[in-house]
Amino acid sequence: LAAVLERVVGPAHVLVEPALITPYTVDWTRRWQGPAALVVRPATTDAVAAVIRLCADAGAGLVVQGGNTGLVGGGVPPRESGGRPIVLLSMRRLDDLSPVDEAAGQVTAGAGITLARLHEHLAEGATGWAFGVDLAARDSATIGGMAATNAGGIHVVRYGAMREQIAGVEAVLATGAVLTRLQGLTKDNTGFDLSGLLVGSEGTLGVITRVRLRLVPMRPVRVTALLGLNDTGQAVDLVSGLRREVPSLEATEIFYPDGLDLVCQHSGLGPPLARRFGAYLLIESAGPDEGVMEELAEFVFRLGLDDDASAVAAGGPGRMHLWAYRERHTEVVSALGVPHKLDVTLPLKRLAAFESAVRSRVAAVAPGAMVVIWGHLGDGNLHVNVIGPPPEDDTVDDAVLRLAAGMGGSISAEHGIGRAKVRWLSLNRSPAEIEAMRAIKTSLDPAGLLNPGVLLPPSAPTR
Ligand code: FAD
Ligand code: MLT
Ligand code: ZN
Repeated sequence: LAAVLERVVGPAHVLVEPALITPYTVDWTRRWQGPAALVVRPATTDAVAAVIRLCADAGAGLVVQGGNTGLVGGGVPPRESGGRPIVLLSMRRLDDLSPVDEAAGQVTAGAGITLARLHEHLAEGATGWAFGVDLAARDSATIGGMAATNAGGIHVVRYGAMREQIAGVEAVLATGAVLTRLQGLTKDNTGFDLSGLLVGSEGTLGVITRVRLRLVPMRPVRVTALLGLNDTGQAVDLVSGLRREVPSLEATEIFYPDGLDLVCQHSGLGPPLARRFGAYLLIESAGPDEGVMEELAEFVFRLGLDDDASAVAAGGPGRMHLWAYRERHTEVVSALGVPHKLDVTLPLKRLAAFESAVRSRVAAVAPGAMVVIWGHLGDGNLHVNVIGPPPEDDTVDDAVLRLAAGMGGSISAEHGIGRAKVRWLSLNRSPAEIEAMRAIKTSLDPAGLLNPGVLLPPSAPTR
């Protein structure tokens, strides 16, 4: 297989040496890993189609990978594949990027383009268009991976997740057939939305090779504020006021004093506010002119917070400084051990109750474990990170996911199901829904070639 794949992509792009393969077979968290027979790195849609056909003929399974920043193990091979060789298909070389279609406010990006490169391309073009999704893994996460996981990030409160930005995709199916929906038509009621089906399918239905992206107006003036609050309940009330009264609002991020202490210890940053608070809310507004500052400043003033309970930055290094307290949580927690990353959403009115209940629940099932929570508050999305239990022990995962589902929430807000949460899919999806998803998978990929073991449970659900 390696020899025939070399004829398609060139010898430099078929990796068989264990030392070269290993970085592709371990995920970002180090919790998920499995062996690959080889890594193949095509650079075009036709080459992806050829690779898929050759792997199907050889009886190999394919695991699709973009930037390998996914947090649920979907982009790395399974620990155990029942003797079937796994080929890791790296999409990073599909990195073409069209000029901005200024009339439509759209751009076409290769699946392997990183989010940071896309943002740069739009800034360089100076067309007045920007991309509505941003997240801390921007330097490595690819547009293909973000589409496949329906990634969220820090601007969902204003622009929605990846799904809302996607006008169409090009993808290769398990048969090697290529679907191309890249015209970017705003209206196109001609049957099933196949692009929509592929978004969020986590590489199980097709390999996304290009994405037609909707853009949003560039909003050059930004103001960021970090507010010290009593607790989650106060933050939830405040965010609901912000969403009603501050139309320029782009981000509403929450974190807590224990996480902030860890960030300060590990990064050398000093504390952002003169005293300690029960919860911290980072908010950001963006607009065309200085009006955004007044809008946000007026709202914050009306809150009547103490003088030492807020820090404000109008763009530049001050803004980056405030964001560092929030964005560095992920790396700091990973530096402490292999985290159990439990990304959940709750109805906003139950979020505060969940935040306190989850801490007690974890203490009960994993005494001594460290719990660090942060998230995208306006989306009802908390990231519950637990450090201490061994990676293979999923007691704490079970407890947290059941609590979230039991309180009317979702077991995956934005990271996906991957390999990490397959066991709990039925907490949110009915047997009829899982069977419908399985029917779609089986009809598009009867041999189970693409991402085996990801997203769907292997047999009929039991819970
Ligand atoms: P990978 O990790 O390579 O793959 C992820 C999944 O997509 C896998 O199932 C894989 O098989 C599939 N896939 C990849 N490429 C393709 C393709 N071309 N076609 C079909 N399937 C494909 N996520 C958020 O939603 N919001 C955040 O705020 C956020 N912040 C993060 C911050 C950090 C520091 C880190 C490390 C991660 C963060 N993530 C966040 C998670 C991650 O960045 C996203 O899930 C991202 O979408 C993954 O993109 P990737 O290119 O790295 O995909
Ligand atoms: C975040 O918002 O920080 C990300 O989704 C990553 C994480 O949960 O660690
Ligand atoms: Zn997140």
